[in-house]
Amino acid sequence: MNFKTMSLISAVALALPTLGMADADDDTLVINEEIEMTTKAAAPAHLDGALGDKVMSGWHFRSDETQAMEMDDFDNPGMLGVEDGEVIWNTVEGSEGKSCASCHGESSEMAGVKATYPKWNDGAEEVRTLQMQVNDCRVNQMGAEAYGYDKGGALPLEALLSSVSRGMPVNVAIDGPAQSTWEQGKDIYYTRFGQLNLSCANCHEDNYGNMIRADHLSQGQVNGFPTYRLKNTKLNGSHSRFKGCIRDTRAATFNPGSPEFVALELYVTSRGNGLSVEGPSVRN
Ligand code: HEC
Ligand code: HEC
Repeated sequence: MNFKTMSLISAVALALPTLGMADADDDTLVINEEIEMTTKAAAPAHLDGALGDKVMSGWHFRSDETQAMEMDDFDNPGMLGVEDGEVIWNTVEGSEGKSCASCHGESSEMAGVKATYPKWNDGAEEVRTLQMQVNDCRVNQMGAEAYGYDKGGALPLEALLSSVSRGMPVNVAIDGPAQSTWEQGKDIYYTRFGQLNLSCANCHEDNYGNMIRADHLSQGQVNGFPTYRLKNTKLNGSHSRFKGCIRDTRAATFNPGSPEFVALELYVTSRGNGLSVEGPSVRN
């Protein structure tokens, strides 16, 4: 046990009763007996060994029952969100009388797109998450209102766009014009927050595989987002998850859609480059 682990345990022990060991399992994820998912991949070079030689999907840290729900679309409640997303995709909205489908055709035409987001946009000179891009289309192409972040149709559409990319490797660019945003996200990842004085890395890098309360700590990857959580029985966006994790350290936090969380999403996504796009996944 290294010093960082010791200090985490003392910090967390104040608030949390149990911390024990339980390694990631060796199960394999095939969805609908058809889509073979890469849930363990060689760690990206930029991690410099911080997660050992492998990155792992959060799927490996869930119980067999929860894992099974993701192996068949009929058992995955997140797929209802995908169906909602498909309805929205084909619905005309806004002053221009257009739907997403009017310009983009079938939703399956978007296969591969989710794997590259968050992504630099030249025209806007900013890193955009998929939700920001969808809102840009709604406002500037359809004359419709933007969705609130992680609200309304935003998550069903994100789940739809994710589902058509399932099995493809996450591959976000971190160099070129995206680099400074990526570095900002990395700084946030290693910043200690709250009364517990914990960074994302203290839990998801130094202690993945350990138990915290009744929960099995994963590497905190975002390749499975949006995620259907059994805890709140709905689709959850990654920014809402970040917010919850920071709140658990008893810190005030950033909001979904804030520049800080956009940068953090880019950085965290890049930590899972090589894992399959898995959303909508099922988690606790
Ligand atoms: C009037 C036409 C139009 C409509 C309607 C429209 N878009 Fe777009 N969309 C575009 C254009 C143009 C681009 C930019 C293409 C490019 O530069 O690659 C784009 C880009 C995108 C991208 C990024 C693709 C990539 O490869 O990075 C996504 C995702 C997207 N749109 C989703 C949607 C969704 C979801 C809707 C409905 C809510 C929608 N769009 C409605 C025209 C439209
Ligand atoms: C006190 C420990 C702790 C800290 C600090 C923490 N998390 Fe978490 N996080 C958890 C727990 C517990 C879970 C639920 C079990 C799991 O998937 O690891 C979780 C889940 C997640 C997930 C979902 C993973 C999946 O596969 O569904 C993501 C993403 C995540 N955290 C990101 C972050 C980020 C980014 C930060 C820093 C802003 C952070 N966490 C800080 C404890 C923590």
